[in-house]
Amino acid sequence: METLNLSILFYSFAIYYKKLITLNYIIYFIMYKKFLDLGLQPLANKYLSKKDLIKKKEHLYHLEVGFNKKSKLVSILKNISAEKMFDNKYPYRSSMSKTMRNSFKKLAQKVTKTFDPNFIMEIGSNDGSFIKNFDKKKIISIEPCKNVANITKNMGYKTYSNFWNIKLAKKIKSKVKNIDLIYAANTISHIKNLNSVFKSINHVLSDKGVLIIEDPSLLECFKKVSYDQFYNEHIYIFSLLSMKNLLKKYKFKVFNIEKLSTHGGSLRYYIKKDSNNKFRTSKKVKEQLNREMKFGLNRFLTYIKFSRNVENSRKKLRAILSKLKKQNKKIIGYGSTAKVCTILTFCKIKSDTLDYFFDTTPNKIGKYIPGSHIYVKKYSKPLTNEADYVFLGAWNFKKEIFNKERKFIKKGGKFITHVPIPKII
Ligand code: SAH
Ligand code: TYD
Repeated sequence: METLNLSILFYSFAIYYKKLITLNYIIYFIMYKKFLDLGLQPLANKYLSKKDLIKKKEHLYHLEVGFNKKSKLVSILKNISAEKMFDNKYPYRSSMSKTMRNSFKKLAQKVTKTFDPNFIMEIGSNDGSFIKNFDKKKIISIEPCKNVANITKNMGYKTYSNFWNIKLAKKIKSKVKNIDLIYAANTISHIKNLNSVFKSINHVLSDKGVLIIEDPSLLECFKKVSYDQFYNEHIYIFSLLSMKNLLKKYKFKVFNIEKLSTHGGSLRYYIKKDSNNKFRTSKKVKEQLNREMKFGLNRFLTYIKFSRNVENSRKKLRAILSKLKKQNKKIIGYGSTAKVCTILTFCKIKSDTLDYFFDTTPNKIGKYIPGSHIYVKKYSKPLTNEADYVFLGAWNFKKEIFNKERKFIKKGGKFITHVPIPKII
C-alpha cells in the first residue's frame, strides 16, 4: 500500500514537473521571438568516454534562440537545469590559454590600481586564473563545480562550491562586509535566473563598490557570424543595450566599458550602484550604444538576417570540407571548445571529415566531443605534418595559436576557419 502511495506521489510530481517545464517553455515563447534554430544539440562540455559511446548515453536538447523585443535580451529558449551542466566533472579550465591568463593578470593590476578594493569576490572563478593574482586574504571565490572548486581551495583561496544565489549572498554578507569589487567573467551569461543574480550581488556589494561583468558581445557575434557562441550553457548573449535595460531594474548603472578580443569579442562592463556618485560615465558607453543601434540590434530584422548568414556559413563550411575530402586531404581540429560543439553538430561534421581534435585540457583528452563524437587527442608539441588542413575550433585564440604553430604555417600547413566567413587561411 505504502509503495502504491509513493508511486502515485511520484507520478503526480512527474506530471506537475513536466507541466512546469512546458509552461516555462510557453512563457519563453511569448517573451522571446525565435530567430535561430540550431537543431538538436548536446551539452557542450559533456565529453563522452568510450563506454558512454557504446551505451549511446547522450541527451540532446533543441537549441533555439530568441530575441526579447522589449528588453532586447537574446536568450536560448530551452530551460536546462544548471546542476546537469555544472557538475563535478566539468572539464573547462580558464588557464588553458595564455591570452586569458594575460587578460586576467592585466585586469587584476588595473583594479588594484584604480579601485584598491578591500575584498574581491569572483563569481565563476573556475581554476583561479583571475584570483591567483591577488593576496589570498582578499578573495572570496564562488565556483559550483566541485572538481574545479577544489583547485582554488587547494591553492588556499576561500572558495564556496555553490551556485550564486541569495542564500549564499546572505551567508557571505554575515561574514564579510566590505566587498568592494565583484568580478564575473563568462559566467553571468550561464545563469538563467538573472533576477536572483543581481539581487544577490546588490546584497553583498558595498555602496561604493564596483561590479565588473565580462561576456561575449552580441554585436561581435553578429558581425563575425560566430553562431557558435550559442550553446546550451550560454543562456544569454548580452549587448550593452540589453545589459543596460536589465541593470535598470536593480538600480545599477554601467559607467564604463572595454572592448576585449578574448572569446571572439567580449564586452567588459564596469557597473556601479545608482546611488554611487564616485564615477563619471565614460563616453565609451554612449559610443557602444550608438554602434549597436546603428547595426540594428534593436530591430528584429537584424536577427532574421543573422539567421540567414548562419545558414550560408554552414553551406560554405560544408562545401570547403567536402571539396578537401574529395581530394583525400587529411583534416584535423585544433581546440575542442564548447563553441565548436555547436558547429560540428549543426553542420553534421563527424570523424569521417575531421580525424580528431588536438586540445590541451586534461579532462577532455582521451574522450569524445559531445554530438559529433570526434576524438580528442592530447596536444603536446607544435604541429609538424600531422595533417594537410587544421580546422580552428579555438578561432578566438587564433593569434596565440598561429604564433605557436608558425613553423607548420611556414611549411605550407593550412588552417580552416568559419569566422567571419568559412575560408582556408
Ligand atoms: N570565469 C572563468 C570561467 C568561465 S566558465 C573564465 O572567464 O574563464 C563559467 C564558469 O561559471 C564555470 O566555472 C561554471 O562552473 C561557473 N558557473 C556556472 N553557473 C554558475 C552559477 N550559477 N554561479 C556561479 N558560478 C557558476
Ligand atoms: P575557449 O575558447 O576558452 O572556450 P569555450 O569552451 O568556452 O568555447 O576554449 C579553448 C579550448 O581550446 C580549450 O579546450 C583549450 C584549447 N586550446 C588548445 O588546445 N591550445 C591552445 O593553444 C589554446 C589557446 C586553446
